[in-house]
Amino acid sequence: MFSSRLPAHTATNRLTAALQAVRASGTPFVDLTLSNPTLAGFDYPDDLLAPLGQSRGLRYAPSPLGAIEARRAVAADYARQGIAVAPERIALTASTSDSYSLLFKLLADAGDEVLVPRPSYPLFDHLTQLDLVATRYYDLDVHGAWSIDVDSLARAITPRTRAVLLVCPNNPTGSFVTRDEIDRLEAICAPRGIAIIADEVFADYELEPGAAAGAGRLAGDGLQAVPRALSFSLGGLSKSVGLPQVKLRWMAVGGPDRLVAEALERLELVCDTYLAVSTPVQLAAAELLHRGAAVRSQIAARVVSNYRALQAAAARAPSCRVLRSEGGWYAVLQVPSLEPEEDLVLRLLADGVLTHPGYFFDFPRESFLIVSLLPAEAVFADGVSRVLRHFARTTSGT
Ligand SMILES: Cc1ncc(COP(=O)(O)O)c(C=O)c1O
Repeated sequence: MFSSRLPAHTATNRLTAALQAVRASGTPFVDLTLSNPTLAGFDYPDDLLAPLGQSRGLRYAPSPLGAIEARRAVAADYARQGIAVAPERIALTASTSDSYSLLFKLLADAGDEVLVPRPSYPLFDHLTQLDLVATRYYDLDVHGAWSIDVDSLARAITPRTRAVLLVCPNNPTGSFVTRDEIDRLEAICAPRGIAIIADEVFADYELEPGAAAGAGRLAGDGLQAVPRALSFSLGGLSKSVGLPQVKLRWMAVGGPDRLVAEALERLELVCDTYLAVSTPVQLAAAELLHRGAAVRSQIAARVVSNYRALQAAAARAPSCRVLRSEGGWYAVLQVPSLEPEEDLVLRLLADGVLTHPGYFFDFPRESFLIVSLLPAEAVFADGVSRVLRHFARTTSGT
């Protein structure tokens, strides 16, 4: 009766079951998987959402790619980051998942393939499956810093490959794509008619000074050493100003003018079929981006402070190592492989701290724990000390 895009069974896994039991018992624990900024103790101005209440929003005048004033506001936000994008090359969406879904409809037929980085954002499996797109993987390697294994990417290409997905900075490795990597990808993708989709939702958050400014970006008119591929850069209010509940996201289309024009024409048709972005949020876009800077700066300070605290704490714990992370909201802790990651995460939950296991993100081997850098500093420090205490005990045999 139901579509095979969805899993046949929605069975609860061991981790979810354990978490439900802990929540039901009311036992407190430190949540180092927190990804919702609205629950992380930031100071959101009370009237931050006032721009949503403009009376102009009472009139409905749909525009498939988005109201031009909102697209101009997004272009101005790119300009803030030093990137020149014409508002006409920007399309508005309601969520980043919507952006992916629209792009899969634009670029792929059922059974066509997209290349997905590994390790990366776990939602890609669902997003592709729901649009009947197949995934093939390319690897990110870590030697001190993470980089794209371009050979594995080239090997993963088949005649059905329609797009390469990038996340920059990547969730959870925190790696930005370099300009050289972008050039190499464009050299591979452009002649084969493969598009590049760059998820830049965390682009504002650097953990190493200068990492964001030094990253390769596909939007804009920077000088390119190689022919350019058609590209889509994704961003949105959810991370850039910490407002996931305010449904406004966007994509900037880049590449050769003719291809960009053809893509926008078709995208307009797809967007016109759904018209998912509300009028009030489009009218409020400029003001939300402006006022939201106050939230962004708090988040940016918090993730840097927690990342440094994690590095300092791990430096005192010889069995654990923080992998280098250049940006984003997460950090990766490499820990001793004394038991399967799932057992470890369950044991840590029993010790009062919740982390994500590396396998959630398709790390090639064990053992890694992923921690969110969003929690309030004292909460984060408590959670980290619980994790490190666990290894101090287990590796000393006590
Ligand atoms: C890499 C990445 N892209 C997109 C999203 C979701 O963003 P949105 O709230 O805009 O749908 C997330 C959420 O954590 C993410 O990690």
